[in-house]
Amino acid sequence: MQEITQQGNELYLENTSLNGIANQYGTPSYVYSKAAITDSYHAYTKALGDYPGKICYAVKANSNLAILQILAALGAHFDIVSGGELERVLRAGGAANQIIFSGVGKSKAEMERALELGIACFNVESEAELVTLSAVAEKMNKQANISLRVNPDVDANTHPYISTGLKENKFGIAIDDAVRIYSWANTLPNINIVGVDCHIGSQLTDITPFLDALDRLLILIDQLQEAEITIQHIDLGGGIGVVYRDETPPAIDTYLAKVKEKIAPRGLELVLEPGRSIVGNAGLLLTEVMYLKPGEHKNFAVVDAAMNDNIRPALYQAWQDLKPVVVDSEEQTLTWDIVGPICETSDFLAKERELALKQGDRLALLSSGAYGFVMASNYNTRNRAPEILVDGDKSYLIRERESFADLIRGEHLLENI
Ligand code: LLP
Repeated sequence: MQEITQQGNELYLENTSLNGIANQYGTPSYVYSKAAITDSYHAYTKALGDYPGKICYAVKANSNLAILQILAALGAHFDIVSGGELERVLRAGGAANQIIFSGVGKSKAEMERALELGIACFNVESEAELVTLSAVAEKMNKQANISLRVNPDVDANTHPYISTGLKENKFGIAIDDAVRIYSWANTLPNINIVGVDCHIGSQLTDITPFLDALDRLLILIDQLQEAEITIQHIDLGGGIGVVYRDETPPAIDTYLAKVKEKIAPRGLELVLEPGRSIVGNAGLLLTEVMYLKPGEHKNFAVVDAAMNDNIRPALYQAWQDLKPVVVDSEEQTLTWDIVGPICETSDFLAKERELALKQGDRLALLSSGAYGFVMASNYNTRNRAPEILVDGDKSYLIRERESFADLIRGEHLLENI
């Protein structure tokens, strides 16, 4: 993470001491850098240059209102996957006509709300969904702009849980069925075809699968042209990986240069849905060592953050860097497993890390800006951590720590028992 530096013996995010943040807001807490978000968004706009296109931030990666507000102010468009995300974008100042709606299971109510507001495009993932969308639009006397999400059957070489572009995955329409379904969609009076879409997976570190998928989509677009169906935009989804450890994801300008070269001759507008590459390395999870349990086989450091705060290590065997917030170079190091208080063996944040630790030390789990807080839960009746935004030497509480009252809100005791 670029915005992290060591000043004296302390870690800083931008110009703010992380130990100071821990003192002020407590731990565990999520901390984000405004500069890092801004820079990674600008990496996309710079790479796009004056080529016609839209950077639709994938809200699912981090949907805090203040983060969405920053991106909306920068001019970002948004990619959503639920009615809840739609309302978040509006609340944060995003415009409905800058929203595209992805996802394999949109409800009728979500379609109605999106049509009423006039979103830019629905990324439709099945024939059955198209039947429903067409009926909803007809009833409302509206036109629904659509892309079909095509499954190009390419291997993204990423973790199987976040790979989406293979035949065996639940996503999208098989590319071999696409011409037939587009031709049918073209006959539906309340459906307006505007694009072709794909998203082959997340945390891709190689450019080849993206370009293979693109080539397949271009063949499809040519076939559609022959059927007199004109496509205005091509949406390549999200998926560019970030550096957690020693990965070498493609640079965004290299990737987009190749894409633009391929699509420019057809005059296609480019739509992208990046999530992780905008916020992933803009955030960290601050935690404090509660107890040390050195042992014969293993040394465990029990910290106050757990799998309910960050499920990525448990779910995807994800590796995220872990750094002491105050560096003490005199202390002797040992190999530690960093575990949370939850009653599950899968509750760990990091394994086998060489660290000098003592009770009360604060640690920063880096690269936690994407799919961190948004995947947090209340498992073990643990309240979710606060979120803090750092801007230079200032910090802002952008989400409060949950209280016990928040946790039981909506639950009812029985009157007679
Ligand atoms: N568009 C669609 C249709 C998606 O399904 C996704 C992510 C994105 C865009 C954004 O992809 P990104 O640029 O962030 O790679 N929780 C997992 C990642 C799940 C990704 C789901 N879809 C993790 O923590 O690694």
